[in-house]
Amino acid sequence: MLDINITKVERSKLNDLTLENIPFGKYFTDHMLEADFENGEWGNIEIKPYQPLVLDPSVSALHYGQSIFEGIKAFRQDDGEAFIFRPYENFKRFNLSAERMNMPEVPEEIFIEGMRQLIELDKNWIPTQADHSLYIRPFMFATDFLLGVKPSDTYKFLIILSPVGPFHAAPMKIAVEEKYTRAAPGGVGFSKNAGNYGGSMLPATRAKQMGYDQVLWTDAFEHKWLQEVGMMNIGFVIDNTFVTPMLEDTILKGVTRDSVITILKDMDIKVEERKVSVDEIVNEYQNGRLTEIFGMGTAAVISYIKKLKYRDVEMEFDINGFSISPKVKQALDDIRAGKKDDRHGWMFKV
Ligand code: COI
Repeated sequence: MLDINITKVERSKLNDLTLENIPFGKYFTDHMLEADFENGEWGNIEIKPYQPLVLDPSVSALHYGQSIFEGIKAFRQDDGEAFIFRPYENFKRFNLSAERMNMPEVPEEIFIEGMRQLIELDKNWIPTQADHSLYIRPFMFATDFLLGVKPSDTYKFLIILSPVGPFHAAPMKIAVEEKYTRAAPGGVGFSKNAGNYGGSMLPATRAKQMGYDQVLWTDAFEHKWLQEVGMMNIGFVIDNTFVTPMLEDTILKGVTRDSVITILKDMDIKVEERKVSVDEIVNEYQNGRLTEIFGMGTAAVISYIKKLKYRDVEMEFDINGFSISPKVKQALDDIRAGKKDDRHGWMFKV
């Protein structure tokens, strides 16, 4: 068993809070996990009261961006048992991000067992209402106090927890992005590093100024091949087939994307992971075969798209007519709530 030094709060903040309909990522539980990488190994593994970090202003992550994270959700089922949804997938992806950003791997026993013990301690923070969950945010950043440009020798790994209500993603209006680029081949698009999100803020703000909620990212060379929508993977239903861009190094290997694909295959719905061009989408819209379009991510799960703009073409979708994506969302909800057989072993018991 992993040796974690545990210091508990004297009084839970939960006494002052109701967990219903709270905004995403604004409140944090009583405890956090922290570990330090120094002299080539991980140590100082602690679970302690949630608290500020004290860092020197020269801390490397703030200047040169070695900073990665994950997003995972935990649920409490009717019998009170807590479960984490597919944490090993995020664990694997976290270490892929770490490798790409020249950061050390975090061992499974710190990431998974540390997370388990932290959640066990803050289990009462997992909301039980429908569409509520505990959002888990593991992250790692470079902690050398040095302005020299080089991979840091020291790092901090933390896990913080935030109870979240429904990410009331109202159906989105999306504009195809042809100027800015999220990710290029050989770059860092597949990794969940902080800079990918920083770089997306300006294009998203521009899109908002034009009346859209987010952008649909296209490839760096031709601005023609679709990548992701905002911070999510993108999916389409074309002639009753689910179509999504295939995984390349420009695309995040979404756990929700993978779960959606698996559920669709269970439902005997045809799945195509391949290159998808904006021209194909416009054509299929115009000939009436494109019937559903949505984003897939941990935070919002499935986010329907009601409008897609490409140049002077405005494509409108009647989300009340979507049939396949709501069924997938329901199946996911049911598995997480323990109401449907967890045939793929996705629910990890705390
Ligand atoms: C997700 O869909 O979970 C994301 O990656 C968004 C997150 C940064 C809040």
